[in-house]
Amino acid sequence: MSGLKLVSTGAAIPAEVVTNEDLTRRVDTSDEWIVSRTGIRSRRWCGEGESHTSLCLAAARQAMEQAGIGPEEIGVCLVATFTGDRMTPGAATILQGKLGLREDTVCFDLNAACAGFIYAVHTASRLLPVNGRRYGLVLGAEVLTRVTDFDDRSTCVLFGDGAGAAVVEWGEDYPDPCTVMGCQARDEVLCVPGIHTGEENVIRMDGQAVFRFAVEALPRCVEEVLAKAGVGPEAVDRFVFHQANQRIIDLAVRKLKLPVEKCAGNIDHTGNTSAASIPLLLDELVSAGQLKQGQRALCVGFGAGLTWAGALLELR
Ligand code: COA
Repeated sequence: MSGLKLVSTGAAIPAEVVTNEDLTRRVDTSDEWIVSRTGIRSRRWCGEGESHTSLCLAAARQAMEQAGIGPEEIGVCLVATFTGDRMTPGAATILQGKLGLREDTVCFDLNAACAGFIYAVHTASRLLPVNGRRYGLVLGAEVLTRVTDFDDRSTCVLFGDGAGAAVVEWGEDYPDPCTVMGCQARDEVLCVPGIHTGEENVIRMDGQAVFRFAVEALPRCVEEVLAKAGVGPEAVDRFVFHQANQRIIDLAVRKLKLPVEKCAGNIDHTGNTSAASIPLLLDELVSAGQLKQGQRALCVGFGAGLTWAGALLELR
C-alpha cells in the first residue's frame, strides 16, 4: 500500500494583531459577544508590505527548511486558496518562480474553501507517484480581509489572514491518509460572489445554517476517516479541526467523546483563516512538540460549498 507522511510544517501570519477591542471601534460589537459566540480573541490582518504571496513564500520556505530539502526535490506544489494575489496565474505558479522549483513541478491552486488544505494533501498524494519525485509542497493560504465586509458585524469579527505550509512525502510503504471528501451545492448559505457578478465581492453567510451544517459534518467526517482507517479515536494523537468557531469544535468533541487534551486549537489568536487554518494549527502543534515523529493527526476541514474533508496524517 502506498501513501503519504507529513515531513514538516511552516507558517506565516501578518504582523498586525487585531483584538476584539479594536473591532469595537469599527462595528457595534463587544469582546464578550465575540468570545462567548466564537472563542476568538484576536486575529491577524495583512498590512502594508504584506500579501498573499509574501505569506505563502515565508510559510513555504520555513517548511522546506524544516524538512531540509531543496526546491529541486519538490514534485508537486499546491496552494489551497480563494484569495490569491492574482486571479491567474495562481499562487502555486508564483511560488514556482520565487522558490526556484523545477519547471516540471506540478503547480496549481485549488479552491475547496476551508476544506481546501485536505483536498490539496489528497491531490498531492495522487500526483506524486505520477510525477516521480517524492516530495510535495502543500499550502493553505488566505487573505480574507480582501473579501470581508467590514460593515457586517456578524462576519467581520470571524476572519483572519495567514498561510500554513507542509512538506509531504509519498512512499510505497507509507500509510494511506484515508481521506474522505464531499460537498453539497449550497451557495445561499456561504458565498463570496466574485468580481463579475455585480454583487459586492465579500463574504455572505447565513451563520446559523453554517453552524448547523458544521456540527453535523465535523463529527461525521471524523467517524468516516476512523472507519476507513479501521481504528478508533484512541489511535489518534491529535485532532486538528478547522478553526471556524470554538463552539462548533466543542460540540463535536462532546458528541464524539474525544479527550479534550487531544483537541487543542488556536482560534483564540488566529480567527477563522479558511484554508490556512489546518496547516497553521499543525505548525503550532509541531513547533510546540505536541505532534511528534510517528504520531498521527486526524484533520477535518469544512466550509463554503458546502465542502468537507478529513484525513489521517502521520508525522514522519
Ligand atoms: N456583535 C454583537 N452582536 C452581534 C454580532 C456581533 N459581532 N453579530 C451578530 N450580532 C447580533 C445579531 O444582530 C443578533 O441580534 P438580534 O437578536 O438583536 O437580531 C444576535 O447577535 C444573534 O445573531 P445570530 O446571527 O443569531 O448569532 P449566532 O448566535 O448565530 O452567532 C455566528 C453568529 C456567526 C457567530 C454563528 O452563527 C456562527 O459561528 N456560525 C458559523 C459560522 C462559521 O463558522 N462560518 C465559517 C465556516 S468555515
